[in-house]
Amino acid sequence: MDLDVRALDAADLGVADEIVRDAFGTFLGTDTFGDTDLLRTRFRAAHTTVLGAYAGSDLVGSTVVTRWGDVGWLGPLSVTPKLWDAGVGSRLLTATLDVFRDWGVSHQGLFTFAHSPRHHGLYQKFGFWPRFLTAIMSRPVAPFESPSGFLGSAWTDRAALRAACAAVTGAVHPGLDVGGEVDAVLDQSLGDVVLVGEPEAPAGFAVGHTGAGTEAGTGVAFVKFAAVAPGPHARGTFERLLLACGGWAAAAGAQRLVVGVSTARHDAYRHLLGAGFRTDTPGVTMHRPNTAGYDHPDVLVLDDWR
Ligand SMILES: CC(C)(COP(=O)(O)OP(=O)(O)OC[C@H]1O[C@@H](n2cnc3c(N)ncnc32)[C@H](O)[C@@H]1OP(=O)(O)O)[C@@H](O)C(=O)NCCC(=O)NCCS
Repeated sequence: MDLDVRALDAADLGVADEIVRDAFGTFLGTDTFGDTDLLRTRFRAAHTTVLGAYAGSDLVGSTVVTRWGDVGWLGPLSVTPKLWDAGVGSRLLTATLDVFRDWGVSHQGLFTFAHSPRHHGLYQKFGFWPRFLTAIMSRPVAPFESPSGFLGSAWTDRAALRAACAAVTGAVHPGLDVGGEVDAVLDQSLGDVVLVGEPEAPAGFAVGHTGAGTEAGTGVAFVKFAAVAPGPHARGTFERLLLACGGWAAAAGAQRLVVGVSTARHDAYRHLLGAGFRTDTPGVTMHRPNTAGYDHPDVLVLDDWR
């Protein structure tokens, strides 16, 4: 096959989206995307690169590569089902590693199916190794949950907001920076940033999507990333942050609050269970190199790298 892997052409976003839905739908036997949008929203963001695999002029697969400071992760990776096992996914992964190398990210990873030896084999070929389960969890949102904390959309100084969030993530894991996610939700009106602690120096924050056309979907508020700075009051801050996320979700009219957490972050996982969250989908994260990154028992971070 004459295959070329390059930056996805904006004109091919619709086809790329169809392939993502077809590929995952074929593998899982069900549609998991509904009215969410991952590809277009990520394509528009400045901290991502979307790669397309072209057979001649036909798009046959794609992947998103995301940069969170010194941390890089990939997905969703998809190949049109009729071309599975012909090396297209591997070519997309080779190109992804080039992007990681150019960015100079020190820790790399992805989220995949915990039960699929095929997926583990594919990614292991490229130096990603399975570590802990990551749980996609949710709880119902009650309409009476009240807003607390404060919202990033109210900040007039975006640079200051990004810096405040980077101060939290940098204290968790040097170089971790999700400023691109902050910009994406605010610039594209995908949701908001929920912050707790001192307005000048927040102790924790969450970047959330809500509604159709975002990564959440109708009726859902999805915390794409959340972090609390380490310290003696971190657990209390985490509790307040989760409550504030519930209040934000209720104000947005969501019926479910969805989060992801590595079970290696034992305190966070246990806290979520105690707060009424239940696992809907367990997956596994694979890391390159095979080190913990920011997956430590006392790290209060929510994300899932989907
Ligand atoms: C996953 C997916 C992207 C792979 O694309 P692909 O083009 O079929 O992948 P490739 O042909 O490049 O690679 C196949 C590799 O899988 C691995 N593999 C396949 N079957 C395997 C098995 N039974 N055990 C272990 N490894 C296996 C091998 O490493 C193989 O590479 P090799 O032939 O060089 O040894 C594609 O199947 C897809 O779109 N699936 C649905 C969506 C999805 O699951 N996305 C990834 C979510 S994390």
